Amino acid sequence: MKRTIFAGVGHYVPERVVTNKDLEKYMDTSNEWIVERTGILERRWVTEGETISGLALAAAKIALERAHLQPQDIDFIIFASMESDHVFPGGGCFLQEKMEIPGIPAMDIRNQCSGFVYGLAVADQFIRTGTYKTILLIGAEIQSTGLDLSTRGRDMAVLFGDGAGAAVLTASEDPQRGVLTSKLHADGLYTKKLWGEWPSVSHHPRLSPDMLETDRIYPKMEGRYVFKHAVTKFPEVIGEALNEVGLTINDVDLLVPHQANLRITEAVAQRLGIAMDKVYSNIHKYGNTTAATIPICLSEAWEEGRIKEGNLLALASFGSGFTWASSLVRW
Ligand code: ACO
Repeated sequence: MKRTIFAGVGHYVPERVVTNKDLEKYMDTSNEWIVERTGILERRWVTEGETISGLALAAAKIALERAHLQPQDIDFIIFASMESDHVFPGGGCFLQEKMEIPGIPAMDIRNQCSGFVYGLAVADQFIRTGTYKTILLIGAEIQSTGLDLSTRGRDMAVLFGDGAGAAVLTASEDPQRGVLTSKLHADGLYTKKLWGEWPSVSHHPRLSPDMLETDRIYPKMEGRYVFKHAVTKFPEVIGEALNEVGLTINDVDLLVPHQANLRITEAVAQRLGIAMDKVYSNIHKYGNTTAATIPICLSEAWEEGRIKEGNLLALASFGSGFTWASSLVRW
């Protein structure tokens, strides 16, 4: 049985830095409120003309270079994002056009904050069975163009940022390395606790001028509800994966959680009994970039020398759906 290893990771974030102070210009908020509740100091937002597939391309190039591979070596593109550059087709095809690698399959994974871990689980199955040898897994997101920047939308608008991360996954014969297991969950009972309602295919027409006057075109969240579920499900799904392979939290060298909110990450670390110096966090720089947070973290942690061959990594996510997932990786 083959194992799925990370041959290279890369990330790219837009150059435009938006600080908490900058947000004060749009809405009634404050740096103090945002820092205290979320740990976010600034985030990156795209400027006109930047696309999700463009961010993904920049991240993919870095990941490929670090893997010492060429675009032509890729057998399969898995693209995790809530959105695409346009209504359709999916971002995987837009990226494929930019990478000039026609013919190989491109698949979109739409599992919001859990997209990257879901994508990793899918990629792992294809690599383990020998169907594909080299898979490009992307987590990429543009949030900023869909936020309500007025005071009405401040609870959501301060949280999110734009960015992309990429992982080049390859097959290894070494049974000690690679993805050890992944655990995926969802509960559609909570679809409307964190969602984007409009435009909607069940509305006639999908988008009408009167819709633009309402706040129902913006993402909505019951923040406290999400918080409570997140701090329960993160530890649960990490524990489930560790149990399966007979390891404990003490074996984990680095926990890389989806960057939802520093308060969530701290609560999860406390519940698991893992020290914060073994938990990766960069939310202060980028906010929540949904599907992109974990691969951006992996790329930065690798650059900083915090991930070394043989390390055990626990990746975990929770988000809209609700969906939650974890993966254990022996780097
Ligand atoms: N600036 C200033 N005041 C604000 C802001 C803001 N940006 N947003 C909300 N407020 C106000 C509210 O209006 C409210 O005012 P009121 O008391 O006069 O009504 C007050 O602050 C408290 O609001 P709450 O929503 O109760 O604040 P809470 O302490 O719950 O913090 C937060 C909000 C940070 C969103 C929190 O609920 C949270 O972290 N939830 C988790 C959700 C999350 O991180 N989601 C990310 C996406 S999902 C995921 O990735 C897992």
